[in-house]
Amino acid sequence: MARDHTSYVCQSCGSVHSKWSGQCTGCSAWNTLVQETFSTPPGGLKPETGKISRLNKLQFETLDSVDEAPARMITGVTEFDRVCGGGVVPGSAILIAGDPGVGKSTLLLQVTASAANQGLRIAYISGEEAVEQIRGRAARMGLSKAPVDLAAETGLRAILEALKREQFDLVVIDSIQTLWSDAVEAAQGSVSQVRACAGELVRLAKKKGTSVILVGHVTKEGQIAGPRVVEHMVDAVLSFEGERGYPFRILRGTKNRFGATDEIGVFEMGDSGLREVPNPSALFLGDRSERASGSAVFAGIEGSRPVLVEVQALVAPSAYGTPRRAVVGWDSGRLAMILAVLEARCGVAFGQKDVYLNVAGGLRISEPAADLCAAMALVSALTDTPLPRDCVVFGEISLSGDVRTVSRTEGRLKEALKLGFSSAVTAQNAMENPPLKVHGFNSLSEAISRLLPVDV
Ligand code: TYD
Ligand code: MG
Repeated sequence: MARDHTSYVCQSCGSVHSKWSGQCTGCSAWNTLVQETFSTPPGGLKPETGKISRLNKLQFETLDSVDEAPARMITGVTEFDRVCGGGVVPGSAILIAGDPGVGKSTLLLQVTASAANQGLRIAYISGEEAVEQIRGRAARMGLSKAPVDLAAETGLRAILEALKREQFDLVVIDSIQTLWSDAVEAAQGSVSQVRACAGELVRLAKKKGTSVILVGHVTKEGQIAGPRVVEHMVDAVLSFEGERGYPFRILRGTKNRFGATDEIGVFEMGDSGLREVPNPSALFLGDRSERASGSAVFAGIEGSRPVLVEVQALVAPSAYGTPRRAVVGWDSGRLAMILAVLEARCGVAFGQKDVYLNVAGGLRISEPAADLCAAMALVSALTDTPLPRDCVVFGEISLSGDVRTVSRTEGRLKEALKLGFSSAVTAQNAMENPPLKVHGFNSLSEAISRLLPVDV
């Protein structure tokens, strides 16, 4: 006999409550609790109960009993393999999260086709598109000949049976929100369904040594079962991002049990799918033939790669009582800090002016090393004085107005040299025998007075 029990599950954070209430005690969100009924069928799939059978005796092992690092499956899409930590680990589960329409299905079709062409046994199971639609897309992208096993299915039971029957190396489930398990009487796409389906697939992946890639849509409100609940179950979470209006797409590792998490893969969306961008600096720099005020080139590091990107600032008279401070691609708190340091330590005040800061190309910078570059772009915009031509800028700024050395100076300078830059502005003594001319400064005010010698 199947037994039913009802719970109220927060659709934002996934916490389970026995009674309904207006606010979730887990994440304090309002009106997110939804009634869900769980049933335990006789045999077959069972929801997790949390009890451990007395028969399963726990065995301890030593730390050094672990075998060598597992061999990785190389899919052949280099940018994807690098973000995974050098290929996909057999038996691992990966979540690819992103906004609807960013290009997750396109990326995974390319990854599966490339992996299948390398001789791996691959399945692509879509719950969103019909087989004909996927074939049509594959034909447009020139991937029709790849030996991928394709299916359109949303029933978890049918998928699990097929995966138990066949020995696949890699299975893509597009998307986890469309799957449906008959062990959970909650709506498709609800937190309980997503959690139950992901749990079963991850368990099977570990047992059979089949790697599973789950696609998860993120919604701004997190209303439709955010893939947040899945993040804890999988070995790696990769987010696929792109700014509207830009063709660039960035695959970023946010969790990885088998590799570094700060790695990025850069792609460009075109008419025949995604193109890998092995040298993103050239892409983010764009055309720099003119010397414009308010522009500075930042020599940054994304994961293991140096990336040069243009930081643009604009300072304009404010039409309102409270001036605007707008940032795209950088942290607005950091901008406020830099403006305060400029005012308090360097005597450069932006007062009643609007300030805009933009990172070109749709890239997001999170490194404090961009401080000096942002500050120089801001002062250059305020004074309408261009910075020296062919010069990159990097360095962290402290609240006292000092310029600090940052990590990987050599990598940054070498990338700048490679792309035709002739000098760099950074902290004093950042490196011995630098590969190009370095203007080193101890303080921000010193850098401003030397490079932008204009009264403000
Ligand atoms: P898709 O992979 O379906 O997004 P997701 O699975 O993340 O929802 O990609 C959808 C967008 O990509 C769509 O707006 C069209 C665009 N696109 C191209 O520009 N070129 C292409 O070759 C393909 C296949 C898609
Ligand atoms: Mg899709």
